[in-house]
Amino acid sequence: MEQRNFKALVVEKIADTQFQRCIKQRSVSELPPGDVLIRVQYSSLNFKDALSATGNPGVTRNFPHTPGIDAVGVVAHSDSKLWQAGDQVIVTSYDLGMNTDGGLSEYIRVPAQWVVALPSNLTPAQAMSYGTAGLTAALMITALIDNGVQPQDGEILVTGATGGVGSVAVAILATLGYNVCAATGKASQTAYLKQLGATSVIDRNELTENKRPMLKERWAGVVDVVGGETLSCAIKATKYTGTVTCSGMVSDVSFTTSIFPFILRGVKLIGIDSVECKMENRLSAWQQMANQFKPTCLSNLTSEIKLEQAEAQLLAMLDGKSHGRFIVNLQ
Ligand SMILES: NC(=O)c1ccc[n+]([C@@H]2O[C@H](COP(=O)([O-])OP(=O)(O)OC[C@H]3O[C@@H](n4cnc5c(N)ncnc54)[C@H](OP(=O)(O)O)[C@@H]3O)[C@@H](O)[C@H]2O)c1
Repeated sequence: MEQRNFKALVVEKIADTQFQRCIKQRSVSELPPGDVLIRVQYSSLNFKDALSATGNPGVTRNFPHTPGIDAVGVVAHSDSKLWQAGDQVIVTSYDLGMNTDGGLSEYIRVPAQWVVALPSNLTPAQAMSYGTAGLTAALMITALIDNGVQPQDGEILVTGATGGVGSVAVAILATLGYNVCAATGKASQTAYLKQLGATSVIDRNELTENKRPMLKERWAGVVDVVGGETLSCAIKATKYTGTVTCSGMVSDVSFTTSIFPFILRGVKLIGIDSVECKMENRLSAWQQMANQFKPTCLSNLTSEIKLEQAEAQLLAMLDGKSHGRFIVNLQ
């Protein structure tokens, strides 16, 4: 088993701030320690993978390194009683693909506690269509629902709408009967967003008014991955007792707001983390994604690529030029 060779995307540091990516043959013996060895069937591409692949020290510090925060596959060997060879499993987040070699590889080895069983209603490809992006979208939508935001309350704003988290969020919300306003910088993708179920599409530049402490009430709920001024603007235009969820910072890590939306409108701001989220919430989210949240258009927001195409796609993602979800076939 330890002698087995396989293919992986490897990022190497060639100078202080210079990194190169190539496909390399690796051996199982080089994988990090862990209880469960998994033969990966599919991985997927997330914004964090793009940061890791280009040497962002906030994500990955040790090189050479294999990115890939998502993987679905079959257990090849297990030293844990929790899993047996042949089990069909998903691993997302924790340290996978950050400083632990990740899913852009034919094999991964991880602690048993990171592993989740593939729900019976999902194929391996569908699980990666969701991946971390989908899990995050599902956790954000669950937070809206748990805070009482209902379809009849009005529009839900989704920012970064053509991205991974955004696309899945639009599709799930539409499946649940919500009226979704998708904010995007890609006017050319209006038809794509409508096909996912967005009721309206706005230019993301409309969400940059930042001088007044509050704006006209519009959103019953918000799913924000952009941060910065976009998040400020969303909070200020959220309706009385509405809920804003935030998980990302593609524009900025900082944002400004006064206290007024919170104390005059009772607006709630909820941060979402899918990396260390409790196992009970993770399992519940995967069950929802496999059942009541599952959009019929999941395959329409997904493009399947080979490992050899991952580098170009990750760079396009950093450039803001990709849309939807990319799954990487490693079979
Ligand atoms: N907290 C968590 O657990 C968690 C989990 C997953 C992801 N995230 C974070 O969520 C964010 C989105 O992840 P993702 O995988 O969906 O990324 P993605 O696929 O690259 O999508 C990001 C989208 O944001 C929009 N965008 C890009 N640059 C922008 C800018 N400068 N200003 C405004 N909008 C911009 C673009 O959509 P449009 O062109 O449609 O506007 C882009 O497609 C990232 O910050 C990621 O790290 C957090």
